Amino acid sequence: MPTHSFTVNGEAVTVDAPPDMPMLWVLRDLLGVTGPKYGCGVGVCRACTSHLDGDAFNPCITPVGECAGRQVTTIEGLADGDTLHAVQQAWLDVDVAQCGFCQAGQIMTAAALLATNANPTDADIDAIENVCRCGTYPRIREAIKRAAATG
Ligand code: FES
Ligand code: FES
Repeated sequence: MPTHSFTVNGEAVTVDAPPDMPMLWVLRDLLGVTGPKYGCGVGVCRACTSHLDGDAFNPCITPVGECAGRQVTTIEGLADGDTLHAVQQAWLDVDVAQCGFCQAGQIMTAAALLATNANPTDADIDAIENVCRCGTYPRIREAIKRAAATG
């Protein structure tokens, strides 16, 4: 099988996998990086949202072959050592999570949004497509605004 080299949370990795294997399988099953969650597998729920070269992406629909030489960041790599990312801190302050399943993806989406839009409007936040079956949307909005103010 071909090998693919890229970085995950700052660490160089090489995996042996078919080029069309979804990156979510590579992360979870080959590398043991389980922060990105499997919800739908077809790019709809966004539970798997992570960053590819700093942009939000959905590894369930991104083949590993497209990630060669690139930087993958998952929720495990968002903090700077012991210092939480402003979005993570805001999530804790607002106590956003309910069951938690969607939350890694929600946080990664919010972090990518704030990286390009430091002061998102309600409409910007409403445009986020990550699904939360527990309905934590009001707290997500509050936490994003808090992170925008403190980050
Ligand atoms: S599991 Fe990736 S978008 Fe649903
Ligand atoms: S916190 Fe349960 S699905 Fe979002």
